[in-house]
This record gives sequence, structure tokens and C-alpha cells, in this order.
Amino acid sequence: MKIGVFCPIGNNGWLLSENAPQYKPTFELNKQIVQRAEYYGFDFALSMIKLRGFGGKTEFWDYNLETFTLMAGLAAVTSKIKIFATAATLVMPPAIVARMASTIDSISNGRFGLNVVTGWQPPEYTQMGMWPGNDYFAKRYDYLSEYVEILRELWATGKSDFKGEFFQMDDCQVKPTPQADMKIICAGQSETGLAFSAQYADYNFVFGKGLNTPTAYAEINDRLKVHTDRTGREVQTYVLFMVIAAETDQEAMDKWKNYNAGADVEAINWLMNQGGKDQTSGTDTNIRQMASSVSPVNINMGTIVGAYDNVAKMLDEIAEIDGTEGILLTFDDFVQGVEDFGQRIQPLMKSREAVVASYQEPSQTILEKSA
Ligand SMILES: Cc1cc2nc3c(=O)[nH]c(=O)nc-3n(C[C@H](O)[C@H](O)[C@H](O)COP(=O)(O)O)c2cc1C
Repeated sequence: MKIGVFCPIGNNGWLLSENAPQYKPTFELNKQIVQRAEYYGFDFALSMIKLRGFGGKTEFWDYNLETFTLMAGLAAVTSKIKIFATAATLVMPPAIVARMASTIDSISNGRFGLNVVTGWQPPEYTQMGMWPGNDYFAKRYDYLSEYVEILRELWATGKSDFKGEFFQMDDCQVKPTPQADMKIICAGQSETGLAFSAQYADYNFVFGKGLNTPTAYAEINDRLKVHTDRTGREVQTYVLFMVIAAETDQEAMDKWKNYNAGADVEAINWLMNQGGKDQTSGTDTNIRQMASSVSPVNINMGTIVGAYDNVAKMLDEIAEIDGTEGILLTFDDFVQGVEDFGQRIQPLMKSREAVVASYQEPSQTILEKSA
């Protein structure tokens, strides 16, 4: 089972609550988190792109760093962990993104990959006059398909003459091509999103569901499989969960309740309103299900709350789900959360035994030597 960290590139991470830790995103914060994650054998770090926040008392996500430049910096201060940035494909031409990816491939020595998103929140784009209108919702994965065909062509050959509905390339050149096979993430949850991933992505990221129901998301793997059976490609699921852990179940649950009690209603209302704008893609994503959500305080993300050993057990349950290759983690407090994961949770996980051995070995050796 692979483990990744979803970098807190926006203020307050993923908790829309006055009672959650309040912080702004900085390079130093993300550097600390990703370097410690690397030490604990995390496989990858991903950052999203968010161009406009939700406001409210906590000014939720009104402060956001830019994903490629952040990840380029992180690539330079790490050596093993894989690094993923997110392309806001509506406002970043594929030839520019292909070149930025090649640059970070060079900085990271082949550890870089790309998350591609269509965009779901119009104000991110209307504010710059770059939203094509709400008809785009129905066409967004057609647009993304052309986009990724161009990326793949540029990375493979350094050149593209692609002509499509959305893009016309004319002897477009991007060199150097990346040294490593550039992996592509998509987070499709709708049928068109899943069909896209089955055709073009290497990994499909999905939202975990519910509170302490780690396997409740599993049906999306079956839906993805219908599409990969058709395309004949191997595309694994990675599932997103927030972990809130403590010494005891009670202590962890008290933290969760406290975050809910301080919910930033204004920011949540903005999110619900924006999530409802797409009337064409079905109701399969948590963003579009916000209005009926049990707990919108963490964007209705799957949430694992409990004592360290229970959290480990629940994460191991995810490893049993067919078609799931990894988990993407967020924490209520990222700095402490990564430490707790490395020190208290991961050592109890069957699905991470090999990884734990790798970072516990040095101190073991020192102990043995001194004995
Ligand atoms: C792990 C993860 C990361 C995501 N990152 C972004 C992002 O950076 N920017 C964005 O606009 N949407 C992001 N999304 C939303 C997805 O791109 C996608 O629109 C959403 O999952 C709904 O699926 P659909 O497009 O198939 O309807 C992310 C979703 C997940 C699960």
C-alpha cells in the first residue's frame, strides 16, 4: 500500500472550522511536512491548484500558493519521495505545462508527475475572464483528453502537431523531454471522469467516504473497472482520507466534534453553492453531494478518527480493497499528524511493514552496535 501526503498549499489545510488550527501556507511549512514524510517512507506528495478561496470567518483557502513552483521547491529539498503538481488545464496551455513538468523532472531527477483537473468552481476562472461558460461542464473531459494527448506527445517526442476541437498545435516543440515516464493522475468520480482516467491516467484519485467507514468508497473501483475493461489499461485507485488521531478514541473524537462545532458556515455555504453549479456530471462526487453531507467541515472527505491503533487497523482495511493501490492523507494538524503517522500509526500497519523496517533500521543498528 502506497501512502501520500496532500500538501497544505492553502490556509488551514482541509478543515473549514474556527476551532481547527489556523495557519497560512508557506514553503517552510510544506518543506517540513514533506521532508518528514519522506523520512517516514511516504511514497509521494501531491499539491492541488486552487485559484480562489471560499471566504467566511476563516477566509478559507483565500491564501493559496501555486502548485508547480511549490513542488519545484520541494523537489529540490527532497531526494526519494515522488512529487506531483496539479495543472489547472483551463488556464495553463499544455505546451507550458509540458515544459514545467520537464523542468521539475530535471530538478527532481525523475520523481515528478502531474495531476490534471478540469476545474469545478467557476469563480476561480471567471475572476480572470477565463471561464468558457457553464456549457463547459459537459465538455470538460473532451477538453482534458485533447490536453493530455498533447502532453503525452510532447513528452514522448518533443513535438506536437495535434489538431482537435480545443487545441491546434503547429510544429510545437518542447525539449528536453523528461527522463522518467511521466505519470498522470486524474481524480475522476463522474462516469465521464472515470472513462477519462481509464483511457489516459495512470492513477485515479477518489474521495474516501463517511466517518470511520474506510471501505465505503469501494464501489467506485468497480465503476472504474467497467471502463478499464473496455480500454484494457491498468489504472489503480488512490483514496483520499483525513486522519484525526490521538492516544484514545475518545480524545480523537472530541477533536473531531470540536472542529464540527466551529464550522465556518459562510465558507461551507460558498462551497455548497459552487459545488451545485455543475448540473451535468451526475452526483458521484462529494463536492456535488455537499448539501446532503454528514459533515461538510472537511469538505465531506472520508474521515478516520480514533486511537493510533484503530486508525492503523482502518487504514489496513483500505489495503484489502481490490483495485486500490494507495491512500492520500490529510491531517487536522499536518506537522504533528505526519509525526504521529510515522511514529505511532504506520508501525502498526501490516500493509506498511516493509516501509517501517527501512526507517527503523538505522536506530536499530545503532542500538545493536552500542550493546
Ligand atoms: C485528490 C484530489 C485532488 C483534487 N485536486 C483538485 C485541484 O487541484 N483542483 C481542482 O479544481 N479540483 C481538484 N479535484 C477535483 C477533481 O478534479 C474532480 O473534478 C472531482 O473529483 C470530481 O470528479 P469529476 O470531475 O469526475 O466530476 C481533486 C479531487 C481529488 C479527489
